[in-house]
Amino acid sequence: MTDQQTDRALPHIVVFTGAGISAESGLQTFRDADGIWQQYAIEEVATPKGWEKDPAKVLEFYNQRRQQVRQARPNAAHFALAELADYYRVSIITQNIDDLHERAGSKNVLHLHGEIMKSRSTKDPTLLYDLGDKDIVLGDRCELGSQLRPHVVWFYEDVPAFEEAVDITRQADLFVVIGTLLAVYPAASLLEYVPRGVQKHVVAPQLEGVPPDIIWHRSKAAEKVPELVRLWISKGIH
Ligand code: APR
Repeated sequence: MTDQQTDRALPHIVVFTGAGISAESGLQTFRDADGIWQQYAIEEVATPKGWEKDPAKVLEFYNQRRQQVRQARPNAAHFALAELADYYRVSIITQNIDDLHERAGSKNVLHLHGEIMKSRSTKDPTLLYDLGDKDIVLGDRCELGSQLRPHVVWFYEDVPAFEEAVDITRQADLFVVIGTLLAVYPAASLLEYVPRGVQKHVVAPQLEGVPPDIIWHRSKAAEKVPELVRLWISKGIH
């Protein structure tokens, strides 16, 4: 059997992550007491209006966060999820724009809210560019001559990858949520597409409201995720 076929024959674990999985790598979350939205006004740095009003401020906001991402390292939770894929078919759907899942070795990563390490043409959204060690400043242009922007989904913008995320979620044999307050839609609605009878776990120190029939591990990711992964590898997922 090819890798793909073997992969398909294995039980499918779908992992849905948010900023909390990167907190122990030193990256701020958004809504915790020390979160990003306590320091910055969403309207000014993460909306199309903010971009129109002051693109240099928006570019600087993401340039600073990109520097932090470059200095961050994946933590035990990211590495445990990468190891899980040696035993199961694993799909990661993340709200995070950092590349820590990929740097930990995860292969199937779908970024619902974009990727901070890429820039995008403001004329043709299919034109994406790897930034490497560069940042984006006013005057950086795509091949069509339009200003480059962060390849990030802002508030009030569509989430193009959502349908694909729903398709993946519908195929879950186990659904694991890690490090998200489940406060932002449509991402948080993914829980509604988990097939009936499939076990749902959430790893987070706090939640705004515990969704029904969910197993809530009130812990930090770097401690709890490796423990759960060891359990699922040794005892199976049911
Ligand atoms: N381990 C696990 N979870 C943690 C940890 C940790 N060490 N630290 C914090 N958390 C949890 C918090 O308890 C909270 O439930 O992570 C969650 C962080 O929630 P948010 O800050 O709202 O982040 P997130 O859910 O990813 O935000 C979703 O909102 O601003 C937009 O586009 C942005 O993708 C982001 C989206």
